[in-house]
Amino acid sequence: MLKHHKKIEKNSILLLIFTVLVISVGGIVEILPLFRMETTIEPVKGVRPYSPLELAGYKIYIREGCYNCHSQQIRPLRDEVERYGHYSLAAESMYDFPFQWGSKRTGPDLARVGGKYSDEWHVQHLTHPQDLVPESIMPGYKHLAHRGADLDTIAEDMKVLRTIGVPYSDDMIKNARRDAYAQAADESDYHDGLEERYPKAVYRNFDGEVTTTEMDALVAYLQILGTLAELKNYHSAPTTMEASND
Ligand code: HEC
Repeated sequence: MLKHHKKIEKNSILLLIFTVLVISVGGIVEILPLFRMETTIEPVKGVRPYSPLELAGYKIYIREGCYNCHSQQIRPLRDEVERYGHYSLAAESMYDFPFQWGSKRTGPDLARVGGKYSDEWHVQHLTHPQDLVPESIMPGYKHLAHRGADLDTIAEDMKVLRTIGVPYSDDMIKNARRDAYAQAADESDYHDGLEERYPKAVYRNFDGEVTTTEMDALVAYLQILGTLAELKNYHSAPTTMEASND
C-alpha cells in the first residue's frame, strides 16, 4: 500500500488525477442530497409574506440604506442571544428579496426590534435620533413624515414577488392598496379580511398624521420584524441557547 503511495507522490499527474477524484467523490456525497430536497429552509410556523404596508416599509428601508449600519441576523452566540433575543432562523427572511442579513453593525441588529419600542418612539427616533439617544450617530429621516407612501404600485411589487415564490394570493394582490391604507388608518371600518390575510399585522395610525406617509410604512415594517415566527414551538435548538432566551 505504502509502496503504491510512493508512486503516486512521485508522479504529479497521477497525484493530480487522484486528488480530483477524491474531491469529486467527497463533493458529490455532500452536494447531491441538497438537489433532492425541495428546500433547505426549514419551515417555521407563523412566518408569512409582508402585508402591503410592511412591504412598502421594507422598500423604504432599502432605499434609505438602513442596511449600511444595521444587520438583521442574530447569530447563535450567547452574547447575541442575550442582547437581541432568539437567534435568527433562515425561514424568517425567506420572503425578503433581497435579504437584509447585512454584514455591518454600526447600529444594533434589528432582526427582533418589532414590539421593542412604541410607534411614537420610532417616529421620534427616525425624525431625530439624538432626541432619544443623545450620543447616537444615526442620521435623521424626517423627510419620511412628509412624503406620502407610494402604495399605488404595491400590488405590482407583490405580483413580481409572486413570480419568485412569495405566496401572495390573488385575493391579497386584489386588495393590496386597500389593505395598505387600512393598516395605517386610525379607526378603520375597512379592515375587512386584513387580519385573515396577514395574521399578526399591527394596524394603527403609526405616525399620528392623517395621510399615510412613508413614516407609517417604515414603522409598520420595523414593528413586525422578528415577531412572526412562533419560536416557542421551535425545538431543534440546543438547550443552552434556548435557556438564555426566555
Ligand atoms: C450611520 C449609521 C446608521 C444608519 C444609516 C441608520 N442607523 Fe439606525 N442606528 C444607528 C446607531 C448607531 C444606533 C444606536 C443609537 C440609537 O439608538 O440611535 C441606531 C439605532 C436604531 C434603532 C434602535 C435599535 C434598538 O434596538 O435600540 C432603530 C429601530 C434604527 N436604528 C432604525 C434605523 C432605520 C429604519 C434606518 C434607515 C431609515 C437607520 N436606522 C439608519 C446607526 C444608523
